[in-house]
Amino acid sequence: MSTVSTSLQTHAVINEAVQTLHDGGLVAFPTETVYGLGADARNAQAIEKVFTTKGRPSHHPLIVHVAAPDVFDQATVDWVAVVAPWARDISEDAVKLMNAFWPGPLTLIFKKDKSVLGEITGGQDTVAIRAPAHPIAQELIRKLKSGIVGPSANRFGKVSPTSAADVRSEFEGELGLMILDGGDCEVGIESTIIDLSSGDHPVLLRPGIVTPQEIASKTGITVHLPGQKMEMSLLPRVSGSLKAHYAPTTPLRLYSPGRVLDALSEFPDTKTRVAVAVWDSESALSEDGHPSVQFHEVEVPSNSAAFASRLYRTLRDLDEQGWDLILFPEPPAGQEWDGVRDRLQRACFGSGPSSSSHASN
Ligand code: TXA
Ligand code: MG
Repeated sequence: MSTVSTSLQTHAVINEAVQTLHDGGLVAFPTETVYGLGADARNAQAIEKVFTTKGRPSHHPLIVHVAAPDVFDQATVDWVAVVAPWARDISEDAVKLMNAFWPGPLTLIFKKDKSVLGEITGGQDTVAIRAPAHPIAQELIRKLKSGIVGPSANRFGKVSPTSAADVRSEFEGELGLMILDGGDCEVGIESTIIDLSSGDHPVLLRPGIVTPQEIASKTGITVHLPGQKMEMSLLPRVSGSLKAHYAPTTPLRLYSPGRVLDALSEFPDTKTRVAVAVWDSESALSEDGHPSVQFHEVEVPSNSAAFASRLYRTLRDLDEQGWDLILFPEPPAGQEWDGVRDRLQRACFGSGPSSSSHASN
């Protein structure tokens, strides 16, 4: 499959994927955010395979992906019934959030139903749930008649994949991994995560394309930032919150407006081939002269959603081109940039040849 289509061939391939999941195998699948590495959420052995294939520590919890039972009119889906097999204490806020944003790039953390396997939750009493918007993900989940655990389909600590080809290159050695091709991911960064499990205040655990401002304007719900109402130590574990994450092998640094040369000071002489991302709204870098450096400019969108959708693609492509250093402009202030700022900062921290030794997911 090369495009999102509902052709007979697509249905046949999805049926094969359902059988693979049913038999305890793994299937990489497209979502609107990034590709996931899927396993049947009711099969402990299959879930263990997800951890070993990714190389992810087993106490880092996974998201359960769910879908409405039928091809549906979004306005009439009973999301409470969809999450009920997995979660308990589903609050009014949760219902409002699900109605406003599902299916879509928002993950909600609930108290878990007792039937949810401890392998998914890292032994915590909470579970993360998301209803992806991608039609192939939905059909896969619906036909499996279960939930699908799906961490991003990348090796531990690496850049998340936003195309089937990215997944293939991440898992080159994994013969037999089935990969459903649903085209390029539209959103391009992982879902926003909101923790609803404490009962009173929703807390933002991972910023994404759905911002607290958008949540407030669509639902009237105030989302708190970690630390605003809770001690960090009381927050559930989120491996995406580790400092090093989403990391390319090439060193990556951010530069503030007009300060490209400052960013080079960390790399005094040896770095000669530097890829510099520049805003598409600005003219090219001025030739303010660094004799030993050869700059290659790559335009990046100055619209936050467009930037997010291209971010991992650009990082992967530049990483493969063999530059000595990659420079990205610091994203501007504003919640719509929080998701990409978060990913870029972690990617910088984890970047470099030894990035695989950093802890992350
Ligand atoms: O957009 C996404 O969310 C993608 C696509 C494939 O759906 N998935 C994804 O999964 O990003 P993963 O495993 O790479 O990141 C899930 C994050 C992790 O940081 C994990 O720690 C957190 O969700 N998480 C899962 N269960 C949790 C829980 N019970 N409490 C707190 N955090 C949890
Ligand atoms: Mg991930």
